[in-house]
Amino acid sequence: KSLAIISAGYCRGAPKDGTEAGPTAVLNSGLFAQLQAHFGAIHLDIDRPDGADIHKSLDPDFAGMKNPRAVSVATKHVSERVYEYSRNGSLVLTLGGDHSNAIGSLTGATRGLREKLDSNVAVICVDAHVSINTPDTSPSGNIHGMPLAFATGIAQTKGEGIFDWIEKKHLIDVKRLVYVGTRDVDDKEKEIIATHGIKVFDMDQIRRNGIESVMDEVMNYIGGSIPIHLSCDIDVLDPEWAPSAGHLVPDGLSLDEGQYIARRVHSTERLAAMDLVEVNPSIDLPGVQRTVDSACFLIRSALGVSYE
Ligand code: ARG
Ligand code: MN
Ligand code: MN
Repeated sequence: KSLAIISAGYCRGAPKDGTEAGPTAVLNSGLFAQLQAHFGAIHLDIDRPDGADIHKSLDPDFAGMKNPRAVSVATKHVSERVYEYSRNGSLVLTLGGDHSNAIGSLTGATRGLREKLDSNVAVICVDAHVSINTPDTSPSGNIHGMPLAFATGIAQTKGEGIFDWIEKKHLIDVKRLVYVGTRDVDDKEKEIIATHGIKVFDMDQIRRNGIESVMDEVMNYIGGSIPIHLSCDIDVLDPEWAPSAGHLVPDGLSLDEGQYIARRVHSTERLAAMDLVEVNPSIDLPGVQRTVDSACFLIRSALGVSYE
């Protein structure tokens, strides 16, 4: 399978800048060369800034969203790029950027795989958060807390053209969405999860039952034939392993547990798309290398790349 990498260094979904430097930091730490050695030629898409050129003064808050126009434009762009590559059968790796970029990667892969394989996609979201606030429930207005709401259709456009590019063909099925490693969920998000019957394996369950048994359940839940989209927010890892992220939550996954999840996904041979978001090289400078190394480790594990 060929590999396409989308460098999605868009950061207006988060309250702090810095994630725009995530893709470069991750790729330049040796990962790009390792991926090249493994996959041969790689399609690499870097053409920022898309939406980042919308000046903040022209992008006032709208309907509970901050920087809505910039994020809508950026995610639409990511969606189209991911769509093209998915439809053509490439494995697509999207590097954020903040988690709003997953609106693009999830919708793009979903649409592409529907066309190519006539199949839904299962989404394994590995995040300290569930990132499923709607503009109405969001406590912050930051769109990086909303990607799963837009990608499932639980949140919809409220006008002004914002996210009006999302159509039915883009939407993931909430029954095919499963979370692993969550530990910081807003009350309103809990209601959304309950209303839609979305499957969650939180940190408590991982501590009680162990990551192996939790991943058995994850794989059972998504079933044996559907392509998989792995959406990784780096803050799922314990801050010890990923200190350079904007919204640290204690008591997260060890790097070994993260790697186990990624390996299990790889072993299905059904990984169709992955995103890795929220690496922020402007936070905790002494910890940047460690965060980047962890991100690369997860990516290599999921893609089955060994090196040296
Ligand atoms: N749930 C909070 C919100 O909606 C925090 C989200 C943090 N997300 C993240 N990707 N770090 O604002
Ligand atoms: Mn998170
Ligand atoms: Mn997130």
